[in-house]
Amino acid sequence: MSKLILVTGGTGYIGSHTCIELMNEGFEVLIADNLSNSDISVLDGIEKTSGKRPFFEKVDLSDETSTNLLFDKYPGIVAIIHFAAYKAVGESVSIPLKYYYNNLNSLIHLLNNMERKKVANIVFSSSCTVYGEPDELPVTEKAPIKPASSPYGNTKQICEEILRDTGAVNENLNIISLRYFNPVGAHPSANIGELPLGVPNNLVPFITQTAIGLRDELKVFGSDYNTPDGTAIRDYINVVDLAKAHVIAIKRLLGKAGKKKLEVFNLGTGRGVSVLEVINAFEKASGVKLKYKIVDRREGDVEKVFADTRFANTELGWKAEKNLEETLASAWKWEKKIRNK
Ligand code: WQD
Repeated sequence: MSKLILVTGGTGYIGSHTCIELMNEGFEVLIADNLSNSDISVLDGIEKTSGKRPFFEKVDLSDETSTNLLFDKYPGIVAIIHFAAYKAVGESVSIPLKYYYNNLNSLIHLLNNMERKKVANIVFSSSCTVYGEPDELPVTEKAPIKPASSPYGNTKQICEEILRDTGAVNENLNIISLRYFNPVGAHPSANIGELPLGVPNNLVPFITQTAIGLRDELKVFGSDYNTPDGTAIRDYINVVDLAKAHVIAIKRLLGKAGKKKLEVFNLGTGRGVSVLEVINAFEKASGVKLKYKIVDRREGDVEKVFADTRFANTELGWKAEKNLEETLASAWKWEKKIRNK
């Protein structure tokens, strides 16, 4: 088996899109996922789109023995992309121990097996949430890490520290941490997309579920922010653009182009967009008039955050290409597909 890439959380939203891009580039893919927040049918969507079915193992990475057995079974792993983590911000506030236990132990068990099996390369799925409310915009990778506003965000910060400290003493370890801004959209084939279980926390799936009639109306959390239209600003990045950045990161690690034990890259478009601008762009892209109501701010939300993407642009040679309307159209096409509309 040639270049086998272990993709943890590979049946999840960003993971599944990344598997397709990896397979398009000729990599063999092994997905390890506990299916706690995704469905096994995603493998069909990946196969339908890429023409090949990834290897799959149902694994709880927070269990040390299961993780060890995975690495014993697949000696050909040359690199890991680690997506598997709990990521619902609100839930992490109400059950923090579930998040600390799972998100930290999963990474620790992976790193122990990387040492044991001499796997040198890991790409870590991190988040712009580590920046909190940034002092300066756009946000560069050198921006200060702010106290996390949720246990979820704190697990991302702690995991980056674990990677930094482990990389500092393990000369074989090559690490890239990718800090995503707001991933949105779906694969243009509509064979895979975002499958939020229950009521979506995130803006775009709530918009598409409102437009298709699953939700009565969208609540816009706050219109009294210090922004041009009063609603909060984010950097919405197309999930396929994001997936492609992971392939570039893997090639960088395998090609030993990485200069440091731990490299960090912001992955965004570099453009800040408000909630109302997303709604307007969705209405243009879908032709659907969206029902929404302005309500109070959501606890823990930051006012403005968007990326300075120059480091990823120059060092990785990567740039987000898809525009917001095209991206929202892909999200809408996916929503209609899964609701058979
Ligand atoms: C975007 C904007 C909301 C829903 C979170 C995590 C981040 C990453 C992405 C995991 C905000 C507004 C939202 C709604 C609204 N997750 N909104 N009505 O909070 O920027 O980031 O998800 O990796 O780590 O922090 O994303 O999509 O929830 O919100 O008005 O029903 O849309 O207030 O301004 P967020 P989001």
